[in-house]
Amino acid sequence: MSRARLPQGVGTAAPAADAETAASEPSPVDSANGAAASRPSPADPGTGAAPAADAASDGAAQAPAGGATPVGRPIVEIAGLTKTYGKGEAEVTALDGVDLVVEEGTFVAVMGPSGCGKSTLLNLLGGLDTPTAGEVAIAGEKLSGLSDDQITELRRRRIGFVFQFFNLIPVLTATENASLPLRLDGDRQADAKARQWLTQVGLGERLDNRPDQLSGGQQQRVAVARALSTDPALILADEPTGNLDSKSATEIAQLLAEVSQRWGRTVLMVTHDPRIASFAHRLVLMRDGRIVGDRPLDGTREAARLALDESGLL
Ligand SMILES: Nc1ncnc2c1ncn2[C@@H]1O[C@H](COP(=O)(O)OP(=O)(O)OP(=O)(O)O)[C@@H](O)[C@H]1O
Ligand SMILES: [Mg+2]
Repeated sequence: MSRARLPQGVGTAAPAADAETAASEPSPVDSANGAAASRPSPADPGTGAAPAADAASDGAAQAPAGGATPVGRPIVEIAGLTKTYGKGEAEVTALDGVDLVVEEGTFVAVMGPSGCGKSTLLNLLGGLDTPTAGEVAIAGEKLSGLSDDQITELRRRRIGFVFQFFNLIPVLTATENASLPLRLDGDRQADAKARQWLTQVGLGERLDNRPDQLSGGQQQRVAVARALSTDPALILADEPTGNLDSKSATEIAQLLAEVSQRWGRTVLMVTHDPRIASFAHRLVLMRDGRIVGDRPLDGTREAARLALDESGLL
């Protein structure tokens, strides 16, 4: 099953270890694996072109969304999600009854002032923290019904994380960093799959470089390849361009757009930059722990700015 969604050339020579495991183990994500078969594959005919690693260099920096409306099953379902920190006078309501549904293959930008709950939202979605009230389901699987081990497995196999500061391991090469989640999962094809994804994100010439031998933009590409390596349904990116120069930021935003459009993953990206948000299909605006705006984007920078302005967030 998962082999169908691997980069070209991976998983065709020998049975994929994780596919066998997934088939034989009762897994909380089996239903997700099965239903995800409709996602476009990076190995599909017609998608063999190299990722748009240099596409930004022409300065166009236009979002590829173009008003496309992905339709598919819900990957993210959130109802009444609430998170409070602290007690008594020190209590902070980081999320205050958030409802959100995001379908397969959609690229969502999340914006809002500092402290409005964006990271809290992503952390709860990724099973990195537990809600005070409300429910999160990923690909139909309610997190509240899973054991700690099952959440760990869901996190490792079905959710990819991309962080502002890349979070790569300095002593490991690009291939070793990108293959880490697969190695943790005991996948014997870990390095082969990682190399394929690194090639897909434009780093085919940098497979053996350590992070200190790569630019910031290249390090973030390694992080995206690592996030994609386990073939997840959902990518969570918290300010992925926050530590990059403008050109590299554009390239990473384009890459995340490609992750949703070409490879059919659902992407939630937090950003403070309307220009970066404009690469998404949809903009969710937050304030004081609540969603105060939610609208489609048309690929232009103006749409994101206008949405912010109308919500009083600019
Ligand atoms: N572990 C924690 N303990 C106590 N309060 C917290 C904790 N994590 C977050 N908060 C508070 O919850 C609120 C939301 O924080 P969060 O980090 O989600 O905001 P954010 O929108 O990501 O902000 P930024 O744009 O600055 O990253 C803030 O008031 C923050 O101080
Ligand atoms: Mg944050």
